This record gives sequence, C-alpha cells and structure tokens, in this order.
Amino acid sequence: MNSPAIERILIPESEIRRRVAEIGRLVSEDYRGRDLVLVGALKGAFVFLADLARAVAIPHEVDFVRASSYGNASSSSGTVRVACDVSLDLKDKHVLLVEDIYDTGCTMATLLERLAAKGPASLEICALLVKNRPREAEVAIRYAGFQIENVFVVGYGLDFAERFRHLPYVAVVSRNSARTA
Ligand code: PRP
Repeated sequence: MNSPAIERILIPESEIRRRVAEIGRLVSEDYRGRDLVLVGALKGAFVFLADLARAVAIPHEVDFVRASSYGNASSSSGTVRVACDVSLDLKDKHVLLVEDIYDTGCTMATLLERLAAKGPASLEICALLVKNRPREAEVAIRYAGFQIENVFVVGYGLDFAERFRHLPYVAVVSRNSARTA
C-alpha cells in the first residue's frame, strides 16, 4: 500500500464553519429551556463536537462514548465496539448524539440502542456528514451538515489509519492508498 495522500478537498474549512454555526443556532432554538446533553462519539466526532458545543448558545452538558468499527481499514467492519460509555446520568435529559459521519449506519444504530436504554427524555442525532450510499442500518438524522458522495473522506476528526484527523477541512484520500467504502 502506498503512503496515503490527500486527493482533493471536498468541504473547505469556511463552509464547515458556516454550517456548524447554522446547526448550533437550530439546536439552540429547538432545545431552549430543556436539559440538553451533547454526546460525542469518539474518536471521529471530537472536532465537530468541540466546534458545535461552542456554537450552541444555550446551557448544555457534554459527554462522550467511544465506538469503533473501522479499525485501520477504509471500509467499515460492520462490527461496532463500544469501548467507553457516558459518565453523566442521561435519565430525563434531552440527548443529542453527535457524530462525524453517517456511513453504513451500524455505529449509530448501536449507540442509539445503548443510549435509549438510559431513559433520556428525547434522543436525536446530529451528523456532520451523511454519505450517499445504501445502509446496513437506517437511523433518522435530525441535523445533517452535508450530504456527500460515497468516497472515503478524512479530516475534521475523520481518519485513515489514525492520520488526518487534525485537518481543518474534509478531504478525499488518494485512491492509491484507500479504497472507497
Ligand atoms: C467512524 C466514524 C463514525 C462511524 C460511522 O468511526 O467516526 O463513528 O465510523 O460509520 P458507520 O455509519 O459505517 O458505522 P470509526 O469506527 O472509524 O472510529 P473512530 O471514530 O475512532 O475513527
């Protein structure tokens, strides 16, 4: 396998910033007066959650779950491992699961089931990227940042073999190094 390289920028930093601000405004309106908890799915959502939390203008709590399905491959293994659970009590809280990407749907379906068991008052999903592809599990996305084509993307939290998470934009990795999912 060749060394992975960025092929092209799919979503520039400025567009991400604008969209995150919009979603933050929507979330602030929709959850005003409610006990909101943003739950980020590590590792991929750490950048999006950090920016979204600062764009949400109402009081809220933040927590994380750690889910993993890709390992070091560029397509989902289909088996989701939940390595770390939330630490907050979610009972009767309004939970918004924050994800970087809705791809096969396996991760979110697994996380929804786990979070629903904690008795939240409501449970919705916010995903920065929604990949245009057939799903293995369908979930409803309340807030979607961008619809994208079915290509393997990195940056803004997303990785390829743990690289590229720090990039401020979303990019497509060279086909020599990563196959499409
Ligand atoms: C990626 C991504 C999402 C999930 C989406 O996580 O961050 O959480 O896959 O894919 P799905 O819809 O096909 O389940 P990954 O398993 O690579 O772990 P990471 O977040 O630690 O990178």
